[in-house]
Amino acid sequence: MATIIAITNQKGGVGKTTTCSAFCGGLTDCGYNVLAIDLDPQGNLSFSLGAEAEENYTMYDVFKGNCEIKDAIQCTNNCDVIAANILLSGCELELTGVGREYILREALSTIQDRYDYIIIDTPPALSILTINAYTAANQLIIPMIAEILSLQGIAQLKETIFAVKKYYNKELEIKGILLNKYNPRLILTKEVEELAGIIADQLGTKILDAKISTSVSLAEAPAHGITIMEYAPRSKATAEYRKLICEITGVSKHSGTKGGSHTSGSKGSSKKKQNKK
Ligand SMILES: Nc1ncnc2c1ncn2[C@@H]1O[C@H](COP(=O)(O)OP(=O)(O)OP(=O)(O)O)[C@@H](O)[C@H]1O
Ligand SMILES: [Mg+2]
Repeated sequence: MATIIAITNQKGGVGKTTTCSAFCGGLTDCGYNVLAIDLDPQGNLSFSLGAEAEENYTMYDVFKGNCEIKDAIQCTNNCDVIAANILLSGCELELTGVGREYILREALSTIQDRYDYIIIDTPPALSILTINAYTAANQLIIPMIAEILSLQGIAQLKETIFAVKKYYNKELEIKGILLNKYNPRLILTKEVEELAGIIADQLGTKILDAKISTSVSLAEAPAHGITIMEYAPRSKATAEYRKLICEITGVSKHSGTKGGSHTSGSKGSSKKKQNKK
């Protein structure tokens, strides 16, 4: 049964998609079956992983009931992906029925046993899409940019997460705050860490030990449709993301096990774009 991890922050540009892509690459690399779910109408994760969102069923079709979730899965060279495009932004207005918070969770329950990990990218908003991600997930990771940490918006994020925990998903666990574009040499770092500590306290979580430095390779990899693990396997960014993956899941490149339930990976078994509309 897959562990479902959502990467979230309603602030834009903090590294949610970058982190999702690295997680998918790192776990696939270790031989796990991974499904990436793009819940952002910008479709950045779909693009980063080489998925196609025009001719295949997407998350929009899943939410609207136009297809079964299994029919929206694309096998890419990276991992399995359910793509998103701009149509997904219509969900906020179009999903009005009772139980709309549970659509993703119910859909995932039909395929959860096929995967070891399901990684969800969320949009920079606290919308019905975000609530679906929190309702479906076992764990949350909250990336933040070290230089522009701010308490602004944290109350809202906390309110949303805590409301979902109370009403829809009691088991939801906030694994921690991930400091991105972290530079230990900056004079500001001490202040930043203190502020991050306050934010983590407010959210009832901690700052993760793993931190991600600024890296040109991280910015370049998406254009090549491959993850950082493949694009720059020996880079500092890859090592930092491997540390993060190990901290969250216990999986390391050399251990190759997740609580003993190791299965063969999907990497290399590419059946690209098989589920055409
Ligand atoms: N550690 C890093 N080093 C260098 N560039 C980075 C790093 N993390 C993210 N970036 C770059 O910053 C930009 C924003 O990152 P990303 O798209 O992952 O953020 P996001 O939180 O998903 O944004 P959005 O809220 O718009 O979805 C991207 O161009 C990405 O390549
Ligand atoms: Mg993004």
